This record gives sequence, structure tokens and C-alpha cells, in this order.
Amino acid sequence: MTNPVEFTVYPDECDSFGHLNQASYLALFERARWEVLARGPGMNAFPKAGVWPAVRRAVLDFHAGTWPGETLIFTLEVLHRGRTSFTLKQDATRKRDQRLVASAEIVFVCIDGEERPVPVPDSILAALGMEPRRVELPGGVTLALEDIGRGDPPLLLIHGFPLDREVWVPQLRGLEGHRIIAPDLRGFGLSSVPGGPLQISDYADDLIALLDRMGIARAVICGVSMGGYIALDLVRRFRERAIGLVLVDSRATADDQSGRARRDDLIALAEEKGAMAVADVLAPALFAPGADPALQEPVLIRMQRTPVAGITAALAAMRDRPDSTPLLATLKDLPVLVVAGTEDQIVSLESSRDLARAIPGAELIEIQGAGHLPSLERPEALNLALREFLARLS
Ligand code: MLT
Repeated sequence: MTNPVEFTVYPDECDSFGHLNQASYLALFERARWEVLARGPGMNAFPKAGVWPAVRRAVLDFHAGTWPGETLIFTLEVLHRGRTSFTLKQDATRKRDQRLVASAEIVFVCIDGEERPVPVPDSILAALGMEPRRVELPGGVTLALEDIGRGDPPLLLIHGFPLDREVWVPQLRGLEGHRIIAPDLRGFGLSSVPGGPLQISDYADDLIALLDRMGIARAVICGVSMGGYIALDLVRRFRERAIGLVLVDSRATADDQSGRARRDDLIALAEEKGAMAVADVLAPALFAPGADPALQEPVLIRMQRTPVAGITAALAAMRDRPDSTPLLATLKDLPVLVVAGTEDQIVSLESSRDLARAIPGAELIEIQGAGHLPSLERPEALNLALREFLARLS
């Protein structure tokens, strides 16, 4: 239950009988919710996350009267949290005698600018005391994650750099009938912040520990970009845990000398000027040229919020990652899907084609018009590709 909010009852809210009018309660319950937001993440928390909470259902119960000048205490608790919806229970109590005068049950659905349901933003989950699931791993690392739906095999979605599980929102929403697990990697989103540089294998170890903790023996492993580097390492060392592999806008090769130097420059920039400066450098190449700014803005905000220690640890890990090319020819018994945005400015289409050619039996899907993040830019196309791939495996 969140901190109580108090309001005075005014005469203009009362009816000819002199007591607080039933219609005013709805407004007061709403004002109390805004107050909770204002005291927590801020009144702009929803628009900042690119999401709006639409009320789908409001039920009010009245128990006693209230008169002008009285103080009402409003409390709020979360009755239910779904993927894109949540239900709040609000109570209004008379201060003078602690009598419950009215209560409300309000169901909200989070929607985007096109009125499509989207997951409840983290900032709201935190403000309402219903943050995403967290799993503690041996060694004191905690990973935040979404674990949604049912179905076998589960699909493990690994985000790229410097992002978090939110890049998979359209997949969390659009792959009904499947169990989708989307963690924040160590150092990103709401997961633990690393104490120093990491290796790509550390992230893969975290994911194996996560699967262990969740009792999942095998999963389809899907990574975008840096998530793909991690997926390749995971498959190299824990082949028995993978039923299939999906590499989205990723590569098997290691960084060349200039790539390694660029990582060092970015580490220095992050340490000196923070996440915002790194986001400014990386953001312009993330999306296809001309991509909708409304799509880009929430991603930029999340990049800017990434802890510097998470950024520098991952940059060091990518800089030092081994060449996974020798692994590719050995993947002939593993179903592999390579996905490429045709407009990717970071991993060229030609390099994705080379990657697919180097893996025996791999399928290549080119997503027209998508840049480096087809999960957000062309979600329907990626969801279709994933659905078909999963259907073949289950
Ligand atoms: C990513 O999206 O994860 C990065 O572009 C990967 C990289 O910098 O190599």
C-alpha cells in the first residue's frame, strides 16, 4: 500500500443533501493517483515512457457520508498486475473517525500512441511497488526480467548495447502461446551493476545461472547484436541448453583494431561525460534512416539511464570478445535463424548474409526497412519470423 494522501472536502463537491457527491469520488480517487505519481516518479512518468494508462473499468462502493471541511485519507494498493494492465484498489477513509467511506477498483491498460496495449513501464511498477521479477544468482548478481506466457520451448531474449529488456516489448506482447523470458543483462535496466569490466562469457554465465534458477533445461536462445555475441558464447559452451538459436543483426567476428580503439574511446567518454554522451554517439545509427522519432525517443531515454559501470563493463567485454567464426560450421545440428534489418547501419546486410552462409542449414530472414532494432522497428515481421521458427521447434 502506498503512502496515504489527504484531501479536504469542498462545498462544490457536495450535493443538495450536503454530503460529498458520488460523482466527485471518481475525481478524488483520480486526483489521489496523480498525487502518488507526483510524489514518486513524477506526473509525467507515463508520457516519459511513451505510454498512457487508459481506464478500462472503474467500480465504486459507497459506505458512509462525508461533509464539507472534512479530511479524507486515500490509500492505494495493487490488486493485480498483468503484462499490459494492472488493477488498483483505492480506499477513502474519514480522518476524524477512521471510517471507510468509499472504495474503488480501477483496471488500467497501458497503451501507446496508436492505442495498442504495451507493458506497464518500470517507473510505474516501482512507484506502485510492483517492480518486475528479480532473480538472485549465485555470487550476488540479481537480474530483473520479464517472464511471460506459457509454452515449450521457452524463448530467451537477450538485448543489445546499451539497452535493456524493453527492446523486446513488442515480442513480449505479440508472441502469445509462448513463454518469453527477457532479462536485463548485468549492468543494464534494473539488474545489478557490475563492479568492474566483464567478459562476454560472464553475461552468458549469468543467463545459464538464470535458467538454472528458473528450472529451465533448454530454451531457444535469441540475441540482438551484443545479445547475439552472448548467445554465440552460450551455445559454444552450453550447447545442450539450446534448442535453437536466433541471431538478430549480430555478427560472429571479433572487433578489429579500429573497433577495439573505438571501444576504448567510448569507455573514456562514458567515464568522463556519462551515459548521456555515449547515447548521443550511438543513437543516430540505431534506427533506419528516417525512423519515427516517437519510436526513437524512449530508447534514447533508456540508453541515457544505463549505469556508466554497465556501459564500460559491456564495452570492455565486446572489445575483448573472441572470434566466434570457427563455431559457426559446428552448428549444423542446431536450428539457426539469422535476422537482418535491411537498413542496419551497424551490422551491414552483407555481413548478416555472410553469417547465415557460414552456418550450415541456417535460415536468413531480411526485414525490409528495419535498422539495427527490428524488434521495435518492424515488430510484426520479427514476431512472424520468431513464431514460425518456434513452431518448427516445438
Ligand atoms: C549492440 O547493439 O549491441 C551494439 O551495437 C553491439 C556492438 O557495438 O558491437
